[in-house]
Amino acid sequence: MAEIGQPLAYGGIRLPNNVLLAPLAGYTDFAFRKLCYSFGAGMCFTEMVSAKGLRYNNEATRALLRLDPSETRTAAQLFGSDPDVLRAACESEDLAPFAAIDLNMGCPVPKVFKNGEGSALLADFPRASEIISACKRSGKVVSVKFRIGLERGKYLAADFAKLCEDAGADMIAVHGRTRDCMYAGEPVYEQIAAAKAAVSIPVVANGGVFSRADAQKMLRETGADGVMVARAAMYCPHVFAEILGKDIPWDARAAIDGQIADMLPFYGEKFTLVQMRKMAAFYLRGRRGSAEARASLFACNSIDALRAALDNIYGPRA
Ligand SMILES: Cc1cc2nc3c(=O)[nH]c(=O)nc-3n(C[C@H](O)[C@H](O)[C@H](O)COP(=O)(O)O)c2cc1C
Repeated sequence: MAEIGQPLAYGGIRLPNNVLLAPLAGYTDFAFRKLCYSFGAGMCFTEMVSAKGLRYNNEATRALLRLDPSETRTAAQLFGSDPDVLRAACESEDLAPFAAIDLNMGCPVPKVFKNGEGSALLADFPRASEIISACKRSGKVVSVKFRIGLERGKYLAADFAKLCEDAGADMIAVHGRTRDCMYAGEPVYEQIAAAKAAVSIPVVANGGVFSRADAQKMLRETGADGVMVARAAMYCPHVFAEILGKDIPWDARAAIDGQIADMLPFYGEKFTLVQMRKMAAFYLRGRRGSAEARASLFACNSIDALRAALDNIYGPRA
């Protein structure tokens, strides 16, 4: 059985440990990933990026691919349904700085699903296979992140895992919930275990890992090689230190200040403000008087106002 924190290698990439940050649309930008690495994350993923958007030179799409110079083992996650468009994205300059590509075959949202993208590919094995092999032809290291099925009870994790391996995937990340569950409920450990048993490439298990105990349970129940953490990191990126048993203190104010300093020059004040009100509000979870404090953050209309509100909450900066 894999131990928490042990190294993980796939497709020639060597990761220092097997606790990974999942892709999270609207959250896993370069500043947030940098923070997660500082708490020990073994690897981080960008949020899902449209292969079509890259093809049409969409600036907003490209902005999602900003990398911090310190990032050496970040994967870009792509979504799409056209194997040629996805392959072209893999071969584009935009993705050249990334250590690997991850293919999204799990996104449940209707807008994506009805275009035949994300989790819709679980219902189209030939296309999913074509996409993976097309992306592999780019020469990139490729992983696939997928759900265990579309509907509860109709599971396909083992078959889909095998499909990924046969098409050339270097690793899979299995989210142990079906599309109809969205993000609710316990992951179905047996399905992740079935995926693991079906393939010889590394398998990372995802779903419901919020603590070291959850991560241990996930590895024990599934036999997976690592875990992928999503919402727990969004609520508090320090969770990586907790899971890995690293003695690194959590200073919410310092984390927020760091994210703001990284984001401002690149994203500008408006976007940074919207983003950091949201993240700072998450970091208040469990703190006394957090409802009021959260309201004070959302009332801020400038970064200066946000910093003043943070001074009120955490005390003036040293
Ligand atoms: C706000 C939000 C955004 C997400 N964005 C993505 C995404 O861009 N790509 C992806 O593969 N999964 C995405 N997911 C799914 C997560 O990566 C993960 O599979 C899911 O949250 C289950 O893990 P958890 O129980 O640890 O949160 C998203 C989830 C949430 C809550």
